[in-house]
Amino acid sequence: MKMAENYKTLEIKKISNAMGAMIKGVDLSSDLSETQFEEIRRALFEFGAIGFRDQTLDFDTQIAFAKRFGSLEVHPIVKGMEAHPEIIKMHKPAGHQASFGVGWHSDNSFFTEPSLGSILFAEKVPPIGGDTLFANQQLAYEHLSDGLKQTLEGLVAVHTAHDAYTSDTALEKYDTDGPIQYTRSHIIEDLTEHPAIISHPVTGKKALYLNPMFTSHFKGWSVEESRPLLDFLVQHGVRDDFQCRFTWQAGTVAIWDNRIVQHAALDDYPDHERIIYRITVNGEKLR
Ligand code: SIN
Repeated sequence: MKMAENYKTLEIKKISNAMGAMIKGVDLSSDLSETQFEEIRRALFEFGAIGFRDQTLDFDTQIAFAKRFGSLEVHPIVKGMEAHPEIIKMHKPAGHQASFGVGWHSDNSFFTEPSLGSILFAEKVPPIGGDTLFANQQLAYEHLSDGLKQTLEGLVAVHTAHDAYTSDTALEKYDTDGPIQYTRSHIIEDLTEHPAIISHPVTGKKALYLNPMFTSHFKGWSVEESRPLLDFLVQHGVRDDFQCRFTWQAGTVAIWDNRIVQHAALDDYPDHERIIYRITVNGEKLR
């Protein structure tokens, strides 16, 4: 794979032609210089999702690193760890079905200010399986016809957490002491609007901003009227040639930018345990 150029402090290798990169030469638990951190941030905006192997983060160093990207989210529905509410322990015990983050989505697109991105640290992973897929929504936008781009520029999409957080696998997580716990929140009933095409807040690059988990319909259109166009766009958005596939090892850190990518966790390791700690950085209103 080709090495990325224009980075002085990092060794960066793309993991697919569409997006994604693995970065070497940095210890995320250390006090990163401003130059090193700015290169990591730039790589995130260039590749959409970036990974680092063989890291040794504890909760405090994961939080300290995440805070360099911005303020941290305490999720209104998914309960964080007691001592660190901004960390969600994504625990899938052996013998259970994986259900958290399974299916294509952009984290918290149902917030009025959707999350900038997530920073995950893997503690325990299955010997095989449990990968995460990413799809580049800037590339998805670029591959639309001029006619459809023009139509979408005029459309606003409505997002809601309702279906995702009332599905059978979600209902099992309320008021339990299971490995992932949910708390009831009015946000599940909220309808939130975002442009169908967004401009990246930092680079200005345009991206499709629709996902099958949380996007319900286009503003001013009925759900039924919206369905055929949404179905086409969500399939288009995750075309194989827009994707990369991320394979975890214990000690791997992954970071992605929700304004650039959709992602999906795979549920293909029923007999194994997986423990990954997730911190999400607050985002801003999308335009
Ligand atoms: C998520 O944060 O959506 C889940 C990602 C994963 O478990 O791979």
